[in-house]
Amino acid sequence: MSNYSKSIGILTAGGDCQGLNAAIRGVAKAAIKQHDMEVIGFLDGFRGLAENRYERLDDAALSGILTLGGTILGTSRDKPHKMSIGNKVIDTISQAEDNYHKLHLDALVCIGGGGTQKNAMRLLKKTSMNIITLPKTIDNDVWGTDSCFGYDTAVEIATEAIDRLHSTASSHHRVMVVEVMGHNTGWLTAASGLAGGADVVVIPEIPYDIDVIKDALISRNRKGKRFSIVAVAEGARPKDKSEIPADHEDSAAVHLTHRLEELTGLETRLTSLGHVMRGGTPSAADRILATKLGTKAVDLIVEGGSGMMVAERGGYAVAVPLEEVAGNRRIIPDDHPLLESLRSLGICLGVQV
Ligand code: F6P
Repeated sequence: MSNYSKSIGILTAGGDCQGLNAAIRGVAKAAIKQHDMEVIGFLDGFRGLAENRYERLDDAALSGILTLGGTILGTSRDKPHKMSIGNKVIDTISQAEDNYHKLHLDALVCIGGGGTQKNAMRLLKKTSMNIITLPKTIDNDVWGTDSCFGYDTAVEIATEAIDRLHSTASSHHRVMVVEVMGHNTGWLTAASGLAGGADVVVIPEIPYDIDVIKDALISRNRKGKRFSIVAVAEGARPKDKSEIPADHEDSAAVHLTHRLEELTGLETRLTSLGHVMRGGTPSAADRILATKLGTKAVDLIVEGGSGMMVAERGGYAVAVPLEEVAGNRRIIPDDHPLLESLRSLGICLGVQV
C-alpha cells in the first residue's frame, strides 16, 4: 500500500516551447505540497508512456526548473495510435493503458498543442485512463483557450528580431522579409508585426495578393521610405494558387522574397526565425500562465475530473471539455483587435482594403 493520496503522471508532447517546465513544476508542486500525491514524468511524450520510461518528479527534480526553456521530460511528435517502432508503425494505446495501471496512476496530465489534445482524446475514448490536458504552443492556436503558454515569449523573440532588422533594413535601403513560425495560424506574425512595426503582415488566415504587397512596397519607396519590413507567417499562402508553382519546394517566404525583389526592383533579403522562437527562458507572462493552468489541473484531479483541458478564459483557469477542443483550431477571426489595429495603422495585410 502506498502512502500517497493519489499518483499522477505528466507528459509533454509535440513541439517544445517556453513554459513547459513551469507547467510541469506547477502541476507537480501543487500535487505534492497540497495533496501528498506521487508524481511521475513520462519521457519523450507519448513514446515514454508506451515504453514505460519515466522518472519520479520529487522536490529535488523540480528545483530550479521554472526559468528553464525546453522540457526536462523531453518531447516528441509521436502519436499513441501510430508510433514508429523499428520499421513498423504500431498502435500503442493498450500498452499505454497497461503502463498507466501498472503504475497505479489516478490521472495523466498531457501538456501539448493541437496534436496532443487530439492524441489525449484518443486515449480518453479508448481507455479507462483519467486525462487532463494543458494548452501549450508558440502558435497560440489551441481551441477553447484565450492563450497558450509559449506564445508570449515567442512574440517577444520575433519582435526583438524585427526591431533588429529595422536598423539593417534602413542602412541598406532594403526590403527585409522575416519569416515567423506558425504553420496554420498567424497569431505570432500579427502580434510581432504589430509590436515590431512591420509594414506588411502576411498570415495564413488572409491569402495574399502579390500585387497588393508589391504596390505597398513601391508606394512606401516613392514616399521616401527607403526600407520596408515584411512579416510573413510560415504558413502564408497566395490567393492565386498559381503564384507558387506546384513543384516549388521552398517555403512561401522564400518564394515571396524572390517575387517581391523581381516585381519591385528593390533589394530584398529573407530572415527565417525558425526554432530560435521556441528556445530560451520563458517570459514572466508564460511562467504565470503555465503555473496557473498547471495548479488548476491538480484541483480538477482532486475533484475526480477527467476529459478536460485547463484553459485560460478572461484571466481565469477554467475546465473545458476535451471533446470540444480536440480536432479544432483557433485561427484569428477577421474582426480580431490585432487585425483591426494593423488595418487602422495602414499596415498592408496582403489584400486590397
Ligand atoms: O508547433 C509549433 C511549431 O513551432 C510551428 O510553429 C512550426 O510550424 C512547427 O512547430 C515546427 O515543427 P518541428 O519542430 O517539428 O520542426
